[in-house]
Parts: sequence; structure tokens; C-alpha cells
Amino acid sequence: MAPAASTSSSACPSAPDLKGANAPLPADLPISSFLCEPNAYLSSNVEETHSGGHGGSLSRTNKNNVGIFHDESVKRQAYYDNSCIDGAHPANGHCEGSNSDDLLRRSNENQCIQTDLKPGLNLHSFQNGNDDAGTFILGRNMHHDCLSITEPDIDDESTGDKEAYMAGVLARYRRTLVDRTKYHLGYPYNLDFDYGALAQLQHFSINNLGDPFIESNYGVHSRQFEVGVLDWFARLWELEKDEYWGYITNCGTEGNLHGILVGREVFPDGILYASCESHYSVFKAARMYRMDVVKVATLVSGEIDCVDLKRKLEERKDKPAILNVNIGTTVKGAVDDLDLVITTLQEVGFTENQFFIHCDGALFGLMMPFVKKAPKVSFKKPIGSVSVSGHKFVGCPMPCGVQITRMEHINVLSRNVEYLASRDATIMGSRNGHAPLFLWYTLNRKGYRGFQKEVQRCLRNAHYLKSRLHDAGFGVMLNELSSTVVFERPQDEAFVRKWQLACQGDIAHAVVMPSVTTEKLDNFVEELIESRARCFEGGKVVVPCVASAIGEENCACSKHCAS
Ligand SMILES: Cc1ncc(COP(=O)(O)O)c(C=O)c1O
Repeated sequence: MAPAASTSSSACPSAPDLKGANAPLPADLPISSFLCEPNAYLSSNVEETHSGGHGGSLSRTNKNNVGIFHDESVKRQAYYDNSCIDGAHPANGHCEGSNSDDLLRRSNENQCIQTDLKPGLNLHSFQNGNDDAGTFILGRNMHHDCLSITEPDIDDESTGDKEAYMAGVLARYRRTLVDRTKYHLGYPYNLDFDYGALAQLQHFSINNLGDPFIESNYGVHSRQFEVGVLDWFARLWELEKDEYWGYITNCGTEGNLHGILVGREVFPDGILYASCESHYSVFKAARMYRMDVVKVATLVSGEIDCVDLKRKLEERKDKPAILNVNIGTTVKGAVDDLDLVITTLQEVGFTENQFFIHCDGALFGLMMPFVKKAPKVSFKKPIGSVSVSGHKFVGCPMPCGVQITRMEHINVLSRNVEYLASRDATIMGSRNGHAPLFLWYTLNRKGYRGFQKEVQRCLRNAHYLKSRLHDAGFGVMLNELSSTVVFERPQDEAFVRKWQLACQGDIAHAVVMPSVTTEKLDNFVEELIESRARCFEGGKVVVPCVASAIGEENCACSKHCAS
């Protein structure tokens, strides 16, 4: 497959000079309930430059001081960093207490960490989830807003006070959810569904513990739905009923943990190869299973670079290869070229009994089959497993996923468990028995044709967003097979939070799911334009260069626009 980055049209619009758009944030900005006041120390600190995840640098200057970094997030960062804000590690004795409980307690009490905040504070470096070093801000410490559990008063039962209090809390929470759902663009979750018909089942403790195909002693299960769903996916990915094994997972991460574990069990001395833009769960699997992992470079599109893959395979030909192939990368929505990966393995001399391919389709596993011209994910090809998330494109209200592998592989992994009268081949023990019901319900209602229509609408709307951003003078990229629109990271952190954008380094993305309408996209773009103008004095926008992240042809900075 050709490099997937779509080419932007050559006309490069100039950044609009939005002096008139310098309006203040609306007073009823819904996110405000989640934000604390900007911290003066930190507001001055953000004049510094912080390096981004890609090693690029990102100026976080916010001249208007619109809420950007918050003391709570720094406290939490310090907590997770296990060190005091002044850089002294608790183990060195500069901080009282050295265990995490103690740190948490003191964090809650605003000791140690808050009192040490000073101007010029250096933000700590982090090991990113996929092992890249970088500097970034963690989200706010939720201990600030947590709803604590209180013991009921003796007379609560008769007065009903506690019930009334809890009903109030839940009603307010519901309103928050409605609002947060309205302003959601950064995560690939389809929030458009109606599962009213399943409400009647909420009162049951449905648990599919053990193997989906072998009934356990626990009778309150939904295996009949689970296996129906698995059959549907096996058919989609072209594996016969008696040749596949699979289960409904807790999420896409569990699918990756399982797929890579199957690969490791098939090839105990295998080396894991994954592109550096793979999801962090892939590298977590390598750490959990103590596997050797080789990171492969990517093209600007985010797709695996098969030239680099070939070179790295050639250097390690003596060991079997376990490969993670991305059917949609997390940040750029890039689809690795499965056929080219297989050809590359063959060119280096790997035969089919020397490699195992896990396809991470968390994001596009259920979109790709419905995209014309998209390369096919199929067990007719020499792949070992495929996983997908159920709460993303499919639209389940709780995290879940599907993992399918070949029957021949699962026997290596399984153990019989007498007390279950079943077999253990899954990562988890107890398994959510409600998730199969939601999946079964939505697959039945939509069917292949319904998903196809939704995919087409998402791709159309993603193109619409891309051209609106392009016309407004933003650097923007959209991969050919993707509905993930990548653009320059908004400087206004309050805006990022309001729209729940996922950011990495100097880019952010919006993922166009079935619940994203053109009206929502219009609102988003208009607010983004206004928010950007507010970050520059007099609204005179200077477009940042994001060529290294999205390619020169997609960058809208003065240098790349002019060339
Ligand atoms: C490519 C990819 N793989 C795996 C995952 C993990 O999926 P989940 O959040 O369902 O655990 C994600 C999540 O966004 C992803 O983008």
C-alpha cells in the first residue's frame, strides 16, 4: 500500500487574522466545573518550552493566561513521579515517607508537594506509555473532586436523607455526562446508541468466567450470546467455526495482551516487532512477558516502515518473529500494510512456521472491512490473531473487545480448571457477561450493511473536518483509510479539555465516529479558530510548523505554505 498520508490540496490558505474573534470564553463554559484556577506560578512557567513526545518542541506560551497548567496536575505528576517537586526523591530522605500510600496521603493533605511549588519549577520528564521519554502534564488529581463514601447515620433509613443525597449526586452526575458527551471528539468512541431494551438485564450478575465454548458451573452467564458474536467476527475475518477460538475481552488492550501471549506461547524464544506508533499496551505486553522487543520506525503517515522492518528482521533471523500489525494507529489512525509486512517476512526468509502476526484492530478492526480499497484483514493470510475494541466504533456503553485466534494455537495456552468445570485460556478470570449482550444486540440491529453506511458517513465527515481546518489555515493530515484527523495542537489547554482532545507532542487529533455530526464539527472548528486567535496578541496568528509530525505537504506554517 502506498504511504497513507493523504496529500493536502496545494493551495495553502493564509491563517485568518481574527482580531474580532478575541472574545472571552463563554461564562458557562461547561468544562469550568472540572478546572481549578490557573496557578500563577505555573502560568509564568509555561513561557518555557517543553519537548514533545516526538522529540520536537512545543512552545506552550499562553499570553492571555487562559487556564493552562494547573497545580493539581503537577501535584499528581509529582505523586506518580514518586518524587518531591523540587526533584528530591523520597528514597533519598528529602521527603517524609517513601511508600506510595504515604505519598498519596501527603498529596491529599497538600503537604510536601504543594508547599514546594516555586516559580521556575521544572516539569518532570516521563517515560511515555510506549517507552518514549518526554515531558508532559498528567491530568488532574481526582482526589480533589472524589465523592467520598460516608457511613450511614443511624436514623438514615427512616428519614431517607442518605437516599435523597445520593439521588441528588447521581442526577448531577448524569447532567455532567450529558454535557461531556456533547463535547467529545478526541477518543474513538461511538457515543450514539440506544440499549433501552437491555435495561431489564441490568439486575443480573452475568459472568462468563472461563472458556466461552465450555459451560462452567456458574449458571448466570451469557455464553450463548458471546459465541454468537464470536461467530460473527470469525466470519468477518474469514475463519471457519471449527478453526477459530476467541473470547469477548475487557478491552482492546486485553486483546493485545492475549494476542501477544499466544504468539509468545507458540514461539517462546520469539522476538516481538512493533512499530514505534503502536499502542502502549503492546510494549506493556513485552514488559509483562519479559520479551525482547524491537521497535520499528514509521513513515510520516504513522504506518510501519517496512524497509526498517526488513533491516531489523535480517539482523535477527535466527529467532522467530512475533509481529504486532496496526489496523489503525492510536494517534494518526495509520493502517500498517499487512500484505507488505508478510512479503517482507518472506523476503528475509521467514517461513510461516517461523512467525506469528497479531493484528491490533482496536480502532479500525471493524471499520476496515467496510472501506472500499482497504487491504483485507483475513485469516486466509498467515496471521495468528486479530483483536478489536467493542466500545469504539461498535458503540458499547462499557469497555469491551473481541479477540479471535486459531484453534490450533489456543491449545498451547489452555489449562483445565476443575472447580470451574471449564478451561482457562483467557487473560482475566471473571469476565463481563453483559458486554456480549450489548455486542450481540448492536450487531443484530446494524448488520454488515448498517456498519458499512456508518463507516462511509464517518469517512465523509472526516474529510469535511479536514477541509474545514485546512481552509482555516491549520496544518492537518488525514490518512486515506482513516477517520482520525490530525492537526496542530491547540495552545489553549482549556479548549483541549473541553473537547477532550488527545494530544501527543505538537499534534492533536479528532476521531470522527458515528456520533460525530457535521454540526458538531462546525461548532468545534469555529471554537478552535476563536481559541487560537485568543492565544495570539491582537489575534495575529502565527501557524506553528508541524511538518515533522504530519509532513511538509500538510503543514500550514509560513515556510511550508510558501514552498
Ligand atoms: C491502536 C490501539 N490499540 C489498542 C488500544 C487499546 O484499546 P482499549 O482502550 O480498548 O484498551 C487502543 C486504544 O485507543 C488503540 O488505539
